[in-house]
Amino acid sequence: MATTNRAPKLKLSNVSKEFTAPGTGQRTVAVADVSLEIQSGEFICVVGPSGCGKSTVLNMVAGLAEPSSGTIEKDGVPITGPGADRGVMFQDYALFPWLNVRDNIGFGLRHGTPGKELSRSTREERVGHYIELVGLAGSENKYPHQLSGGMRQRVALARLLANGPDILLLDEPLGALDAQTRLILQVELLRIWGETAPAEQRKTAIFITHDIEETVFLADRVVVMSTHPGRVKAVLPVDLPRPREETIRAEPRFGHLAEEIWGLIRDEAYRAIA
Ligand SMILES: Nc1ncnc2c1ncn2[C@@H]1O[C@H](COP(=O)(O)OP(=O)(O)O)[C@@H](O)[C@H]1O
Ligand SMILES: [Mg+2]
Repeated sequence: MATTNRAPKLKLSNVSKEFTAPGTGQRTVAVADVSLEIQSGEFICVVGPSGCGKSTVLNMVAGLAEPSSGTIEKDGVPITGPGADRGVMFQDYALFPWLNVRDNIGFGLRHGTPGKELSRSTREERVGHYIELVGLAGSENKYPHQLSGGMRQRVALARLLANGPDILLLDEPLGALDAQTRLILQVELLRIWGETAPAEQRKTAIFITHDIEETVFLADRVVVMSTHPGRVKAVLPVDLPRPREETIRAEPRFGHLAEEIWGLIRDEAYRAIA
């Protein structure tokens, strides 16, 4: 998918991140020398053992953390803090329990910068559009405690999209869901990302997971990280056609790619539980 003559949407150049423990002063190198170019509209999955720095990389792209060295640029401009152009979603739902579905989704539009210039009716229209898109029509007035985990993540995704980001930063968003819901939401996520739309209309997505098959199903390219310190071990293009149908999971090529990724992280995964 990556073409050579376009400027990348995101460019990470020799990015490292070190943490210093406040009490002991002990230093941890969470991420070491990560360089990566991501094209506009690409769906990138990042996989690797627990603690390899996946979330740290994502947080730096989100502008929630600053690299200790190296640079991260979006459209050629260094990232200096969080922005509505980059929407973040985590595993733990992070919804406002006192707001219903509609108000959760519209929160950023009502209280943040993305909705500042919009009239009330435009905001409501936009919220309605994303309620439809993520399949929550009919549940607008429900509160988070009345929703299943899968529905809560649909709300979180709609809220993120309503703010109009061009980059989606997804940190194990399906990690807390049961296996069947997870498979269904993988398909839905690709549709919402724009799999069936022309490539130039797709958003740029970085999706973190430790589920290898999930990476193969979703990604244009899989970034495999290794731990201590967190580094990029390999970047694998996923040469499976889109749209990805459920049946693709049974194809030999799917299995080969999953094998290849497992081969890259197997040793470390065993070491981690030893
Ligand atoms: N705020 C922090 N302070 C100190 N150490 C941290 C902090 N965040 C992450 N780390 C450490 O950095 C490493 C990478 O963490 P993380 O990015 O969360 O990994 P992953 O998401 O791949 O599981 C781990 O060793 C973790 O303990
Ligand atoms: Mg993490």
